[in-house]
Amino acid sequence: MTKRAFLFTVVLVLAALPHVAGAQATGSPLKIGIVGAGREGGALGTLLVKAGHPVMFSSRHPENLKGLVAGLGPLAKAGTVDEAVAFGDVVLLVVPYPAIEEIAKVHAGALAQKVLVMDVSNPSAGRDGEALVKSVNDQGGAGLMTAKWLPGAHIVRAFNSINFRKLGELAHRAGEPLGVPIAGDDPKAIAVAESLIREIGFEPVLVGGLAMGKYLVPGGPFGVEHTAAEIQQIAGSLH
Ligand SMILES: NC(=O)c1ccc[n+]([C@@H]2O[C@H](COP(=O)([O-])OP(=O)(O)OC[C@H]3O[C@@H](n4cnc5c(N)ncnc54)[C@H](OP(=O)(O)O)[C@@H]3O)[C@@H](O)[C@H]2O)c1
Repeated sequence: MTKRAFLFTVVLVLAALPHVAGAQATGSPLKIGIVGAGREGGALGTLLVKAGHPVMFSSRHPENLKGLVAGLGPLAKAGTVDEAVAFGDVVLLVVPYPAIEEIAKVHAGALAQKVLVMDVSNPSAGRDGEALVKSVNDQGGAGLMTAKWLPGAHIVRAFNSINFRKLGELAHRAGEPLGVPIAGDDPKAIAVAESLIREIGFEPVLVGGLAMGKYLVPGGPFGVEHTAAEIQQIAGSLH
């Protein structure tokens, strides 16, 4: 290759790169599938796109997501649940809690192959009924229940009590970052979750294994807005 052709190639490659610059600053871009691109899934996916990751937002009616992805640029796509599960190296489950069981019936095998399944979903008496909440609690809580529905999946619970309205303003806040309690059993999945959480502007705090996931629910002991040190203190009081 001549020197001129080489320089031309370098310019072309650099021109293609700016959209991944955010992810390259802290790690490689990861393909992320969001199952449940409603209020919380839409807000989390938006932060992940801004950090430079390709994200497929999904819905059973993906045509409804056109507006969301149009505003986010070329890294954002809309698809069906099947497409998002196939697309992601990492899959976020941000659905009404009982929907995880439904999704598992079709996708448990595929989800077990992912480096990380981030479970943002919560059982809620208001939405899912008292009986569902009792049955999840009887199985050891939200972390262990999700693991039972998704055998072999590398699950980390995270972001379970940060309201979708506040995610944008709390990400990369001034001063000390907001702590995000997480629970999981798989070291590699935990490392990937921690890296993604830092990239989008929070400080992850591993509070224990998936059995501790029962505490990561709205109204739970970790509350909403704590620093990492405060979360560690609360976790210590629960062990
Ligand atoms: N809202 C918050 O601030 C917040 C904060 C932390 C955690 N969470 C948790 O996040 C979860 C979602 O809450 P949300 O407020 O974002 O709810 P939402 O706005 O109602 O969105 C729920 C999403 O789940 C999808 N969904 C429902 N059933 C499904 C199924 N069977 N298969 C595939 N997708 C399905 C819906 O997709 P379709 O378009 O296909 O209907 C919708 O996009 C809940 O478990 C909640 O506890 C919420």
